[in-house]
Amino acid sequence: MKWTANRVRQTFLEFFKERGHIIVPSSPLLPWNDPTLLFTNAGMNQFKPYFLGEEEPPFRRATSVQKCMRAGGKHNDLDNVGFTRRHHTFFEMLGNFSFGDYFKLEAIKWAWELLTDVYGLEKDRMWATVYLDDDEAYAIWRDEIGLPEERILRLGKKDNFWEMGDTGPCGPCSELHYDQGPEFDPIQKDPSEEGERFLELWNLVFMQFNRREDGTLEPLPNKNIDTGMGLERLLAVLQRVDSNFHTDLFMPIIEEAERITGVKYDFGPEGAPFRVLADHTRALVFAITDGIYPSNFGRGYVLRRILRRAHRFAQKIGFEDKPIIYRLAPVVVEIMGDAYPELKERKAEVELIIKKEEEKFIEHVARNLPRLREALEAAREKGIIDGKDVFKFYDTYGLPLDLIEEYAEDYRVKIDWDGFDREMALQKERAREKSTFRMEIPEWKVLDPDYSESEFLGYRTTESTGKLVKYAVKGKKVYLVLDRTPFYAESGGQVGDKGYISGEFDGRSFLFKVEDTQKFGKDIVHIGKVVHGELPEESVEVSARVDRDLRFAAQRAHTATHLLHKALRETLGEHARQEGSLVEPDRLRFDFVHFQPVKDEEIREIERIVNSKIMENIEVKKEWMPYREALKQGVIALFGEKYGETVRVVSVGDYSKELCGGTHVERTGDIGFFKIVREESVASGIRRIEALVGFKALEYAEENEETLKNLGALLHTETRKVIPRVTKLMEEKDKLEKELHALSDILANEIFKTMEPESLNGVLVYKFAAKGVTPDVLKRISDRINEKHGGKGYIVALGTDKNGRAHIFVRVSEDLKGKISARELIRRVSSIIKGGGGGSDLKAEGGGKEPGKVKEALDTIFNEVSREVKNG
Ligand code: ALA
Repeated sequence: MKWTANRVRQTFLEFFKERGHIIVPSSPLLPWNDPTLLFTNAGMNQFKPYFLGEEEPPFRRATSVQKCMRAGGKHNDLDNVGFTRRHHTFFEMLGNFSFGDYFKLEAIKWAWELLTDVYGLEKDRMWATVYLDDDEAYAIWRDEIGLPEERILRLGKKDNFWEMGDTGPCGPCSELHYDQGPEFDPIQKDPSEEGERFLELWNLVFMQFNRREDGTLEPLPNKNIDTGMGLERLLAVLQRVDSNFHTDLFMPIIEEAERITGVKYDFGPEGAPFRVLADHTRALVFAITDGIYPSNFGRGYVLRRILRRAHRFAQKIGFEDKPIIYRLAPVVVEIMGDAYPELKERKAEVELIIKKEEEKFIEHVARNLPRLREALEAAREKGIIDGKDVFKFYDTYGLPLDLIEEYAEDYRVKIDWDGFDREMALQKERAREKSTFRMEIPEWKVLDPDYSESEFLGYRTTESTGKLVKYAVKGKKVYLVLDRTPFYAESGGQVGDKGYISGEFDGRSFLFKVEDTQKFGKDIVHIGKVVHGELPEESVEVSARVDRDLRFAAQRAHTATHLLHKALRETLGEHARQEGSLVEPDRLRFDFVHFQPVKDEEIREIERIVNSKIMENIEVKKEWMPYREALKQGVIALFGEKYGETVRVVSVGDYSKELCGGTHVERTGDIGFFKIVREESVASGIRRIEALVGFKALEYAEENEETLKNLGALLHTETRKVIPRVTKLMEEKDKLEKELHALSDILANEIFKTMEPESLNGVLVYKFAAKGVTPDVLKRISDRINEKHGGKGYIVALGTDKNGRAHIFVRVSEDLKGKISARELIRRVSSIIKGGGGGSDLKAEGGGKEPGKVKEALDTIFNEVSREVKNG
């Protein structure tokens, strides 16, 4: 019977189940409670707390087939993918785990038994590696398994010490390698060398340590086992194909790509683009299904790069300007949907997201390519393009590097890579600086040399005393630091407090107005100006008073932000995660992940939810607790945030729980009222909601009502009847316009009938000053004249005075073009009617504020025309 992927997975799980292991489902690719990890990258991830001894495992033995992704962070293979037989971004890991139960002997014995007896791999093709000094594992291979010594190697840290990430559980490991035969690589002698012949199949980690933040190793409370075997490579061996990509996990995707592009797949090096497409499509489908979306930050950014890389490779085989990945996605669902039913559930949405992202990329390249070409053209003479420019195209315009390189080659322009690297380093530096707030503070005048850091009292109070410990002055701005303060420094999106600080010194008082508060290192810095008196020369006791109205208003907005976050996820889906927020007094701005505009009915639903939570008047709890405890309670951890050991959790009943250092209301009822006033896009896949609470929401409602009332008054009706009234007015307006049209026609006809042209050298010149008709009528008269003369041989000069203004209209028949210009004629007379005008050579009009001068203007035109006609 053929070893299909499904059969290999099942066999693995059953084997360990029979040996007392609990079968545990794969956890999502989005590590749901681990900010140290970009993507789930090993089977052991979901068991990390058990290994660290932070949680009591409910079982001592487990087995799983885990969805993994390695692209960014530790274990990053992205650039190799497609060019080797084995590297992937997304892959499946077969694993068995022991939490303080069995150790090296069983792990090794079972791995051996499963591979040789069950999967049927030849014993004499097996090799083992152990960590340098791991005599125990070495002895097991030699004595228990009976592996000849020449096929047991001792390797160093790089090969045989496994670590999950920069921190976390780790330990020495032992690997099983399979010899595929010299035909795969005639040079490679054994698994210690790089090459294609010996295939690393299974990694058995003897998990004994925890790598701490400072880099040191601490022994774990238990000795554990963590193993991992790549399904794709095992399958390649069992299906006797030369590359993971040629197994039934990938070939159907490659075949579909052949069909779509019309290009034949090459099983050798030329086939790389197809392999990239197959690999990356799997990664995209699985990641998006698990709630990771292409974006400009963190995980989302890695995903965006994967998509763009895939798309570039499609372009390389001539499939340009059309999305392709989303058309491969259904094949992935077909192959994998039975093992991972979530793929089927979210298929349509995933395809749509991929398609949109591809379209955006195509458009993006199309838009920015001309700029690149221009720059390369300009650099042609020098033969090299500035690293700075290249960086700009890469970073600001988002063009992939390989694309830039290709074009540079076309133009025979070299790239200044050193300059590029320098820019990249500068960019990183800038990002670092931005993340830690930096103020240009001139030298501090230190009043208290014993001071070390400001204590924040503002969670409990808005007024307190404190000691002025240092200050600085720069122009009109003054910076004050107290040893303790109720002022909240801007952070977590919430703006800094405003208020007053006052004190006395030498019998003289001073008053300082705080306009903003910012954190600077360990200082809470009050920024503002001295409005009265002078700052003292020594450390004195002062009183600090936060503007309570503003602070409470900011608190209302902050708690409302938490409610909104939760309501968004409830209404739009779990993907609607926070991307940024701004909390001001009674106003908030919230950016989140979503791929289409939020519909009106969804906005209404969100407002209803938030307002009902406000009316429930739920207590808002603020608690400090260990980070792990917070995660257990279900708070959301965001990647990239470094949380200290103890964290502050803000919870609104059971409804919302967030890690947050901001200030909040006591009960949701304090918020008063919540109203969304705007919804828009800020970046692709990121929407922004602006909302008001408290008094600002009230003012907003008042203003709207006021407008409506004024409208009612203007329309002489009650506000509730404004809409029917306006609708009726619009209908009436339409009707009147139609009537006016008809009347203008009649009027034009009547006037036309009375008109007599004068013939000048065979050209008929019409001149007429009408009284009180609209300019529109003048045009209609000219239409009649045009009809009458079959569009030839006439000049029309018409005028009217209407509503205290003069209007002149001139029309010249086609055949006179080049001889007489209507625009020119209007220009000549615009000073007479004190106004201006314009138009073409054939038709032009003018208007001015001298209605009494219409006749004079027409006479002038007539004289001008007769001169021209006579001359010409
Ligand atoms: N956690 C180990 C690995 O990923 C098994 O290789």
